[in-house]
Amino acid sequence: MYRAFYGLKENPFNVSPDPRYLFLTKQIEETLSSLMYGIETKKGIIALTGEVGTGKTTLVNRLLDWLHQRGTKSAFLFNSRMNSSQLFDFVLAEFDIPCESRSKSQQLLKLNQWLLERFRAGETAVLILDEAQNLTFPVLEEIRLLTNLETSTEKLLQIVLSGQPELEEKLNLPQLRQLRQRIMIRCKTSHLTKEETHNYILERLKIGGAAAGQPHIFSSAATDTVHLYSLGVPRVINLLCEHSLINGYVEHQRPIQPKIVEDVAREFQLDVVEPTASPEALRTSAELYNSEAFIQNLGEALSRFRLSPTPSLRDKK
Ligand SMILES: Nc1ncnc2c1ncn2[C@@H]1O[C@H](COP(=O)(O)OP(=O)(O)OP(=O)(O)O)[C@@H](O)[C@H]1O
Ligand SMILES: [Mg+2]
Repeated sequence: MYRAFYGLKENPFNVSPDPRYLFLTKQIEETLSSLMYGIETKKGIIALTGEVGTGKTTLVNRLLDWLHQRGTKSAFLFNSRMNSSQLFDFVLAEFDIPCESRSKSQQLLKLNQWLLERFRAGETAVLILDEAQNLTFPVLEEIRLLTNLETSTEKLLQIVLSGQPELEEKLNLPQLRQLRQRIMIRCKTSHLTKEETHNYILERLKIGGAAAGQPHIFSSAATDTVHLYSLGVPRVINLLCEHSLINGYVEHQRPIQPKIVEDVAREFQLDVVEPTASPEALRTSAELYNSEAFIQNLGEALSRFRLSPTPSLRDKK
C-alpha cells in the first residue's frame, strides 16, 4: 500500500467530506462568512452556487457544524428529488417536530407554531437544501411560501439553497421571479487557482501524516499537471492525486513526476479536452470550465470512479 512508501498515516485524498481536511482559501472563507452573516442577521433566503465538485456540500457541512456548536436548530435536506408533500414531511422530521397529521395545512400550522416558539426563545432555525438545482418548480414555490412565516420584524426560518449553476439559471426564469426577489445573499464556490491547488495538495498530505522536512511527495511540475487537468476542481484534484499515489507507489517514484499524473488523467479521460493553453491561461478560461465537453467528460470520469474503479487500480491498492 502506498501509505507506508510515502510515509502517510491515512489516504489524504479520500473524496468523503471529512471536516479535518477543510481547506480555506480567501474566497471560501468569504463565502462561509456570507453564509454565517446571512443566518445571523436573519436575511431569509441565501443562495450558494458553484460548479460540480467545487466544495458546496463540504462548505454546507462546515456550516452545519457551526450551527450545531451554537445550538441552532437546523434541517439538512440533501435529497432534492422530492415532491411538495415530501418536503413538509422531511422538514418536520429533520426539525423533530411531532405531527400526526399528514395534511399540508396541519403540518404548516405545526411548523409555524414551532418556529414562533423558537423565536420567543431567542433561537434561530435554519433549513438547508443541497442539490437545489434539482428541486421542481412546485417545491421551490413551497419554499418561497415558507419565507412568509415571519413576525413583523424578522423571518422565522432561514433558508440556504445550495446547488450547481443550473440553480442560478432556474432562478432567473420568469416563473421563479418571486423567489428570486427574496434571495438576499448570493455566494459562490469556485475553482482553485494554481497556487491554491499547490497549497491544497500540500495541506492534505500534511493532514494525512506527511512528515515535515521530508522530500516532496509530488514534484512541483506534477502539481502543476494536477491543476492543468483538474482545472482546480477539488474533487478532480483528489481523484488525480489519489491515483497518482497508487501508480507512483507501483513505480517506486518519489517525488511523483508529471508523467504519472498525465497517465491517470488519460485513464479517466480528463485529457479529452486538450489543454492547449498554458495552465495559467486555463485558470481564467471560464469558457472551458463551462464547456459541455468538459462537463460531460468530468461527469463520466467521476461516475466511473464512484461506481466501478478499474480492476487494475483496485488490484494495485
Ligand atoms: N474547501 C475544501 N477543503 C477540502 N476539501 C474539499 C474542499 N472543497 C471540496 N473538497 C473535496 O472535494 C470533494 C467534492 O466537494 P463537494 O462534494 O463539497 O463538491 P460539491 O460542490 O458539493 O459538488 P456537487 O456539485 O457534485 O454536489 C469533497 O468530498 C472534498 O473531498
Ligand atoms: Mg454537493
